[in-house]
Amino acid sequence: MKKIISLLSLSLLVLFIILILAVKIISPGRIGQQLSKDLNFPHPTIIAHRGVSYEAPESTMMAYELAITYSVDFLEADLQRTKDGVIIVFHDDDLKRTSNASDLWPEKETYAISDFTFDELQQLDIGSWFNLQYPERSNPLYEGLSIITLHELIELAQQHHIGLYLETKSPDKYPGIEQDIIDILHQNQFEGLLVFQSFSLESLKAFKSIQPDTPRVLLINRDRAQAEGFKNIIDESYTLITGVGPVGYLGLPHNIGYAHRKGLIVHLYTINDTLQMRLFRYFGADGFFTDKPALANDLFR
Ligand code: G3P
Ligand code: CA
Repeated sequence: MKKIISLLSLSLLVLFIILILAVKIISPGRIGQQLSKDLNFPHPTIIAHRGVSYEAPESTMMAYELAITYSVDFLEADLQRTKDGVIIVFHDDDLKRTSNASDLWPEKETYAISDFTFDELQQLDIGSWFNLQYPERSNPLYEGLSIITLHELIELAQQHHIGLYLETKSPDKYPGIEQDIIDILHQNQFEGLLVFQSFSLESLKAFKSIQPDTPRVLLINRDRAQAEGFKNIIDESYTLITGVGPVGYLGLPHNIGYAHRKGLIVHLYTINDTLQMRLFRYFGADGFFTDKPALANDLFR
């Protein structure tokens, strides 16, 4: 009996070693490390997703200020354009989930960002919803927080020497938004670490044609990966981009290894769990978008 147990233990140990070696052969971490180093990105790269959006209302100045208090490398922001042309930081296409728009203007038929002027949007409270939805994390200071502009976010990033990871959200709705964003960055003389990101390859192509030296990351969600296949997406885009931002479950060694061999860094979204961070890091991921940068700090800094 003892012999069988020790044989079994030995087999398990051998299997474990084979697994470790296989992962390292499929996805050797050093490629991503070198690619990140070439871009001057800390490795692994920690990206505060909509600020520290677990602790404070997403995309608000408070959520971004909180991110400064952690060792994050980038502030992640979704950008859209108001009816009168102001570039603002806001995730959803419409205002309903994270603002009091439907209480303030109950008569409106739609609440799309692009239907409102900046002055109108400034009347909104985009903090109180958080207190109602997450009473255990609520804070009276969150009541009445306002939508912020890209200009304000740039100022914060400059003051604290922190990078910006800027996403064009629904760029089809906002023709020319890439030029608008670059103009604002230039007006503010932003010289920190910068990444443009989008689910739209067309939008990244537009960034490339205007400012080719800034890294571009193509976001990949589950639906697209299932419809087209991860490798096909990489094959058709890798000459146009610097990296990919796949949804977490795509962060397996064979996918990460494939992207690395095509010269692309891999930043996974949105990873809010210590075990997942450890595992995906082991699989070769070069960084994480996270609502909880404290976890990444504890693990990697
Ligand atoms: O930008 C990375 C991640 O934020 C993409 O998903 O919907 O949160 O913008 P989403
Ligand atoms: Ca985003």
